[in-house]
Amino acid sequence: MKRILILGVETSCDETAAAVVADGQIMLSNIIASQIEEHRQYGGVVPEIASRKHLEIVNEVLERALLEAGICFSELTAIAVTHGPGLVGALLVGVNAAKTLAYALGKPVIAVNHLISHVAANYLVHDVSFPAVCLVVSGGHTSLLHLNSRSDASLLGSSRDDAAGEAFDKIARILGLGYPGGPAVERAAANGDFRTFLFPRAFTNQDHILEFSFSGLKSAVINTLNALKQQGKEYRVEDVAASFQHAAVEILTEKTVLAVRKTQVRTVLLAGGVAANSLLRRRLSEALQAEDCILLNPPPVLCTDNAAMVAAAGFDLYVQQRFAGLDLNATPVLDKNWHLG
Ligand code: KG4
Ligand code: ZN
Repeated sequence: MKRILILGVETSCDETAAAVVADGQIMLSNIIASQIEEHRQYGGVVPEIASRKHLEIVNEVLERALLEAGICFSELTAIAVTHGPGLVGALLVGVNAAKTLAYALGKPVIAVNHLISHVAANYLVHDVSFPAVCLVVSGGHTSLLHLNSRSDASLLGSSRDDAAGEAFDKIARILGLGYPGGPAVERAAANGDFRTFLFPRAFTNQDHILEFSFSGLKSAVINTLNALKQQGKEYRVEDVAASFQHAAVEILTEKTVLAVRKTQVRTVLLAGGVAANSLLRRRLSEALQAEDCILLNPPPVLCTDNAAMVAAAGFDLYVQQRFAGLDLNATPVLDKNWHLG
């Protein structure tokens, strides 16, 4: 049977990525050009620099994805691209590259929602049984989704303010740990004592039980540090990192367990950049075992931004023949109909 070969293109933030995936599951290539070094000196992603770097490298990344997959452009079935949410200038580079290729090759273009593509990273490495719950934790999202199938997702709850990854990044900056913040906090926390500071866990009331809030936790860390400095008291950055990470992981774990109890699913997926955090993986796995549930997660390289996940999510839209027009634009903000792709 003829394989469905989808080229995925991802430029929503600071990774220029292209990948070829066969039949929505088999990764033939996964090229990721990270811009971390360009942004490190500024302590975070500078949108203008991100767009310029995407533009400089996108053609090379696309060619390498095809080369590594051992196929030529004409063999592609369709081209899937992240159209949002993300940085508008960065998204536009990928969207325009994908549309140009689609037009030149006479192939369909598929518009993929970044959040949904993070979920789809799991399909590249696991045979997922549905229904399932997915916790998507990235720099832009903290969301719990209920999945009836690969193409049927609904939102159970999300963050009312900062995303979990955003909180890791901000705390890293405050502690002088650099960018990207999540891995830096995790490394520092490994040498710290999480019992040093008890930071608040924001558990919103019963009506909003599956929603998250991280801004209070972030402010509590900042206020604690300011108070210690004012009092001339010493503290270890490692202990602050460990205490913050412990609080964040506890919140994410507790809410996921609540989502499982509410939906009665037996499978939980983890997705997004923060899913690379080993404490989160361990704590969540232990907590879910107690609920008679299994936790599936992608390897760290598929947790952070990549294009294989975009191609996998694009496959699900291809099956439904849901194509975008050549007027496709970047959608920087999540649309109300986000779950429709
Ligand atoms: O999914 P992703 O690559 O991009 C977005 O869609 O936002 O996620 C990036 C986020 C950043 O906030 C980064 O600090 C966080 O994921 N992150 C981590 C870890 N690795 C990446 N957070 C905690 N622990 C990690 N090991
Ligand atoms: Zn992402």
